[in-house]
Amino acid sequence: MIWTTTIEPEGLADELEALRDEAKAVYREGAGPGSLTDEGLDYAVLDGDRVSELLPELAIRYASTFLNAARELTDLQLEVSPDTPSALNINYLDAGGRYELHKDAQPYTASWLVQDFKPWEGGWLTLYDDDGIAIWRQLPQRGLFVLFDGARLAHRVERTERLRVSVPMVFLPSGVEVERPDGLDEHIF
Ligand SMILES: [Fe+2]
Repeated sequence: MIWTTTIEPEGLADELEALRDEAKAVYREGAGPGSLTDEGLDYAVLDGDRVSELLPELAIRYASTFLNAARELTDLQLEVSPDTPSALNINYLDAGGRYELHKDAQPYTASWLVQDFKPWEGGWLTLYDDDGIAIWRQLPQRGLFVLFDGARLAHRVERTERLRVSVPMVFLPSGVEVERPDGLDEHIF
C-alpha cells in the first residue's frame, strides 16, 4: 500500500534548500547494511537532532501535521519515532547524486517533497515489489507527502540532475520494538 497526499510547504521550501550546506555528506561505494544492490550512496543529510536545532518548525510539524496526515491516510494509530536522529531527516542529493535501492529498518516511512521536477531532471522516487519490479515511480512534486511500509517495499532515488531536497520521516505502529540494527544510523533512508 502506498498513500499520498499534499501538504503545502509554503515558506519552508526555501528554508530547506538554504540549509544544504549545513548537511553532512554521506558517500559510500558498494553495499552496506540494508543495501539490496551495490550502487552505493552519495547524498548529504541533516539528522533529527540537527533539524530540531536548525529548523524547529519542521520538528514541530513532524509531531503534528505530518503525524496526523499519516494516521488519517493509514487509519493506524501511528506514533513518531523516539529515535530522534533517524525519526526526521532532511536529505540532499546534489546533481549526479543517488540513493541506492534498500529497505528501511522499520515501518512506516514517509517522504515529503518540496520541489517541482521536470522528467528530464530525474530524482524519481521508485518503489519495488519483492520480484524487483518497479510498482510506483514519482517525480518530486511540491508538497507531495508519500507514505509506505519501507521495511517491506524496497525503494531508491534515481539519479538527479539538480539539487533534490526531501524530508524522510519514520512513523511507528503503537507498541513496536524501537531498537535499530547496528550500522543503520548511517543508512536510514
Ligand atoms: Fe528508505
